[in-house]
Amino acid sequence: SIKACIFDLDGVVVDTAKYHYLAWKRLANELGFEFTEQHNERLKGVSRMRSLEILLEVGGISLPDNEMEKLASKKNAWYVEYIQKMTPSEILPGAKELLEELRSNGIKLSLGSASKNSPLILERIGLKNHFDAIVDGNSVTIAKPAPDIFLTAANKLGVEPEECVVFEDAEAGIEAAINAKMRTVGIGNPQILNRADVVVPNLKDFTYSKLVEIFKK
Ligand code: G6P
Ligand code: MG
Repeated sequence: SIKACIFDLDGVVVDTAKYHYLAWKRLANELGFEFTEQHNERLKGVSRMRSLEILLEVGGISLPDNEMEKLASKKNAWYVEYIQKMTPSEILPGAKELLEELRSNGIKLSLGSASKNSPLILERIGLKNHFDAIVDGNSVTIAKPAPDIFLTAANKLGVEPEECVVFEDAEAGIEAAINAKMRTVGIGNPQILNRADVVVPNLKDFTYSKLVEIFKK
């Protein structure tokens, strides 16, 4: 049975996906090319440097490593500027309520994000103490779709992968969860997240009893 839930951060708990997109788009425009929301899907859940590689591929640009480091820092500085102004009002609908309901039913909770900015975000939105474990890009650098982030979370919580449900908005994140042999709830577009066990538009109507019902076997 399900003993733990692992939540991605960006695009699941909080609406930071839009800030990542804004910052990447700003960088692409500065480099002289367009970067659409469709291109951006490929960046969701993917590490900062890998995201930059994909972005430069879209623009048909190739750069030495030291230039890439500079561009990644620039993007991050813009992104941090956006998220520093965040408030708890940017927690996505239903996320806080679901975390609280799951915990009160004895479900262990972990964050499972690739972001190095997650401590700042959790502090801004006041959800740090809602998790039993925090696994992010500062502790695990092998990015999704590798299963490492989620396996580390299960390990920290003391549960088996088969006992975990992962909540993800990114294709790379669903892949990572499948690679970890975990169950999955996709948040967003069922066409993009077609490998998830179930896809819901948001967490608003998701409850503990739905979790039990969906993953009962
Ligand atoms: C998450 C986001 C990605 C982001 C990555 C790294 O997985 O979905 O869009 O690139 O984290 O975030 P960071 O804040 O460390 O640049
Ligand atoms: Mg995400």
